[in-house]
Amino acid sequence: MSAVNDPRQQVEEAKSAFDSDFKHFESLESASSEVRDLLDFEIQLRALNELRARHLGKKSAIAGAKKLIGRVAAEDRAAFGQLVQKTEAAIARSIETAEASLNSIIEAARTARESIDVTIPGRRPRPGHLHPITLMRQRIEDIFVSLGYAVEDDREIETDFYNFDALNIPEGHPARDPQDTFYTTEGFALRSQTSTVQIHAMQRRGAPVRMIAPGRVFRRDTPDPTHNPMFYQVEGLCVDRGITMAHLKGTLAEFVHRLFGPHTRTRFRPSYFPFTEPSAEVDYSCFNCGGDGCRICKWSGWIELGGSGMVHPNVLRGANVDPEEFTGFAFGLGIDRTCARIYQLDDIRLLFENDVRFLEQFR
Ligand code: FA5
Repeated sequence: MSAVNDPRQQVEEAKSAFDSDFKHFESLESASSEVRDLLDFEIQLRALNELRARHLGKKSAIAGAKKLIGRVAAEDRAAFGQLVQKTEAAIARSIETAEASLNSIIEAARTARESIDVTIPGRRPRPGHLHPITLMRQRIEDIFVSLGYAVEDDREIETDFYNFDALNIPEGHPARDPQDTFYTTEGFALRSQTSTVQIHAMQRRGAPVRMIAPGRVFRRDTPDPTHNPMFYQVEGLCVDRGITMAHLKGTLAEFVHRLFGPHTRTRFRPSYFPFTEPSAEVDYSCFNCGGDGCRICKWSGWIELGGSGMVHPNVLRGANVDPEEFTGFAFGLGIDRTCARIYQLDDIRLLFENDVRFLEQFR
């Protein structure tokens, strides 16, 4: 029997064609718990839209049945119209339910994919650690801070004035040679010693002043086991009324006691620095052999700490401090070489190369 002859039959056929097409989507509810592949569900969502067009669109069997309403006998027309409407609504409801279910599955799958599983064992972070030079610098700072010194941080790029002239090293002075440094085209120089901070500190704070200034310095030195073109120094400066060489000796003796132990001795050898008068090189008795001689102190029993002396009156004057009223002492210690001695390194270049296999030993 043709559909036109029996409109009810056409609606029945439309319904059963939809039901058989829709079967696959009815099982979605149970599939949702399994959270299958997201892509798979998106394909199904597209298929559901095609299904909607096929069974509810302009060319669908239901659309055809709607056109027949007017041709059905008047006494059956209302009942037939209701049947078509009910069937269309049932198909639309089934599709909407399946669509809502699919969307929620897709949402759940997305959330599952993007969420973090807090139960998965994490990768243990590899914490960094301080460089041996930093460890050494901190130990030195702690000692001087406990002796009442402020810690100053200052510039590494300097003018000729601060690097040389203000330190009583005028142009042409032979002391400029061993302190030769690297220059920029604008007439600036990388500081060749932390003594530059003496001037800045006195200009900034006036007198009295008590400070240390750890930092990097640069020299045109050829690298070898005890030289680097870039290394660290710590400057010390104490200016006040009545400061004498005895204060300098007492301060550095206390410093080596705290750094290497109470039995450590100091010795002062006469020396020359243009910015101190008198000047002295400071040595301390070897922390390893106590002065008997060993590999660490190169069998001399003594290890060099750095240079020191009483601040030259010209330096005080140049920094606007009256040398008639104030006197002071200063010292400059090499951090790299002290660090190398303490950690028994044969070559200070290791501290500059930053090979992690070497650095990891200080973890
Ligand atoms: C000075 O630099 C003076 N400014 C020290 C000073 C300060 C004297 C205040 C008086 C008053 P010297 O050039 O000797 O002095 O250097 C001091 C320390 O720096 C040395 O004892 C050494 O430990 C370190 N040093 C010098 N040159 C190098 C280098 N190329 N590589 C590594 N360490 C170095």
